[in-house]
Order: sequence, then structure tokens, then C-alpha cells
Amino acid sequence: MNLEEFCDRFQALLAQRPKTPILLDAGQQLLRELLKNPGWFADFLRQFMVSPYFLADQPTSVFDNEIRLYRSPDKSFIMLAYLWDNRNLCPVHDHNAWGIIGALLHPMREVKYRRLDDGQAEECADLEQVSDFVLQPGETGIVLPLNKGIHQTGAALDRPTISLGVYGRSIRQGSIHFFIPAEKKADRARKRISFRKVLALRALASLGEALGITMLTPSLLESLPKDLVREFQEYSAR
Ligand SMILES: [Fe+2]
Repeated sequence: MNLEEFCDRFQALLAQRPKTPILLDAGQQLLRELLKNPGWFADFLRQFMVSPYFLADQPTSVFDNEIRLYRSPDKSFIMLAYLWDNRNLCPVHDHNAWGIIGALLHPMREVKYRRLDDGQAEECADLEQVSDFVLQPGETGIVLPLNKGIHQTGAALDRPTISLGVYGRSIRQGSIHFFIPAEKKADRARKRISFRKVLALRALASLGEALGITMLTPSLLESLPKDLVREFQEYSAR
């Protein structure tokens, strides 16, 4: 099975409106089929390396190792790939939707957490680790939305690792959260802005000062992505 076939079959599965446990079960079976033959992803990566405009319109994400492979026309699901460096793990996080994850190249690690507090205290979270296991290439798992699916994933070994994730429609507006369990901290995850753009904005502000003019006018700032402006302003306020 290749990516296109997978997405067609996953869309057909969703069209049957199965209950979530059945969807996650059948979805995992489909993902395992896709993971059996990773040749399509090798073609994808080759295109990524040689075509300057391939993936040029990727949306920004809270994860800088994320590539969006597909979004269904009715926005009912997205397909993402994650490229992991040796033993690299992402921050502990929650999700706004159900998800199905799987290891495509080399084993991936997943550490699951349970939330002990009621979530009422902003920026605080009391998490307890409940499992730490490895998905071998071809194996899949699931995540649930909000506090039921808090986990951390990444590369289990010193090998370049690739995982895939299929995620449903968000049931909550806004960003997911990142957690620091040892410090009992929680924070809204921010989309990663190309650091080049932040640097360019800082340079523009400084250049304006040097020239005695205001380069960053309110109308210019209003036209820019909000997360870029926020990152720039936080830097300026330090
Ligand atoms: Fe996740």
C-alpha cells in the first residue's frame, strides 16, 4: 500500500462513521499495511531533497521535526511524518484529537503519562508515568485526545528514526500543551517559526533604529503571522 491508497481507504473508513474504538482498531490495521512497505516514503524523502519547491507550503507546527503528508479535503484527518535524530524525544504533550501512530524506520519509543491533578491550575500539571515501551517498525499504537493521551515519543535507538501519525479533527480550539513532569509544569505549545524570519524581523527593527526611522509600523506587524510577531516582541521585551 502507498500513501495515496492509505488515505483513500482511511477516508472510506471514516465515511462509515464508526465508533472511536472501532475506528482506532481498523485504522491501526490500515496503518500497519502502509508501514509494511516504506518504499513510498523513500521516494518522498528523495523528492524533498532534490526539489526546491516541494513542501514549500508546509504549515508551521509546534514540532520542528514534523512533515505534513496529507490533509483530507473535508479536514477529517491529517497524516504526519516525524523525523527523529538519534534517541531524540519530543516534549511531553497532549493532543487535541485521537491519533494512530506507527514506526516506519527503526524502533520508536513512547512514554505514556496519566494526569493526577484536575487541570484547573493554569501552567501546572501533576503527571505520573504509566508506561515506557518501544514500537518496532511496522507496529502501531493509539493516542486519545486531551488528558487521556499525554505522552512523549521519539527514537528508541541511536538511529535516524521515522514515525507516522494519523490524527482526527480537533475537539478543542487552540494549541496543545507541553509538560515538564519533574517540575509539574504545563504550557501552551507554540508553533515553531523559522528562526531566520525572527532574525530578519529583529534586524529590520535595529536597522530602522540605526537609520532613525520606524521600520516596523503597526500595519506591517498586523500583516505578519501572529506567532512570528509574538516571538519577536518577547525577544524585544527581555
Ligand atoms: Fe503525540
